[in-house]
Amino acid sequence: MTESATNDNNIQSAMIPTHVAVIMDGNGRWAQTRALPRHAGHRSGVRSVREIVETAAKRGVSYLTLFAFSSENWKRPAEEVSRLMSLFLEALQREVDDLHRNNVRLTFIGAREELQAGLIRKISTAEKKTRNNTGLNLIVAVAYGGRWDIVTAAKNLATKVLNQELSVADIDDTKLAGELALAGVPDPDLLIRTGGEQRVSNFLLWNLAYAELWFCDSLWPEFGERQFDEALSFYASRQRRYGQSGNQFGVA
Ligand code: FPP
Repeated sequence: MTESATNDNNIQSAMIPTHVAVIMDGNGRWAQTRALPRHAGHRSGVRSVREIVETAAKRGVSYLTLFAFSSENWKRPAEEVSRLMSLFLEALQREVDDLHRNNVRLTFIGAREELQAGLIRKISTAEKKTRNNTGLNLIVAVAYGGRWDIVTAAKNLATKVLNQELSVADIDDTKLAGELALAGVPDPDLLIRTGGEQRVSNFLLWNLAYAELWFCDSLWPEFGERQFDEALSFYASRQRRYGQSGNQFGVA
């Protein structure tokens, strides 16, 4: 850790998590407490997305993964699902040029084939446009579920075994991780969940194995730079052991 390496929040850069994952919860409740329809909450949530992307980039986070739509969210009322899809499309149309100017590399994870053709096209175009950017890696999980991810990886490994490209004895953590949606991306160091619930809700089940978990009561549309910095401060205060004892880290 270098003493001079500080950011706006005075958290030394060595203490900044490489990868932050976020469960953006509470849009519906935010809207309901204002007597607004739920989609107004999602719309307002896009503002928080923009602020968190900017803050994460400023703080030196390398990867930011946002849970925008889960495998289970398809069970929501058709009108809410349809408005959410329109919102993703609109946000992509509006924000991609700006993200590109800011050197952000945008990728999507999830069962993409379940999405509408127009959205799939926009996603591919955005990914192609930003793929050589070297700043923040923004990963948006849409139609994503942690169990779907592990099942897909297991199927890929089984296919490789059937094709005699791989033997069962060679299957290990690294091989399975290499088939997951986040293959090649370091595991999240910090998981943030807004909206007062303390659950992982089928997000990145494999990858969150050693993540520090930070929960807050703020509803997603209320979440901004200040709360993100609180999560970073919490992270900076944690001692990560990866299953080893405190003594092995020189702490009783
Ligand atoms: C959870 O709140 C939120 C979602 C299911 C959608 C998240 C989507 C956005 C923030 C919009 C845009 C995102 C991007 C990446 C452009 P909830 O509806 O479950 O809230 P509740 O728990 O209060 O009902």
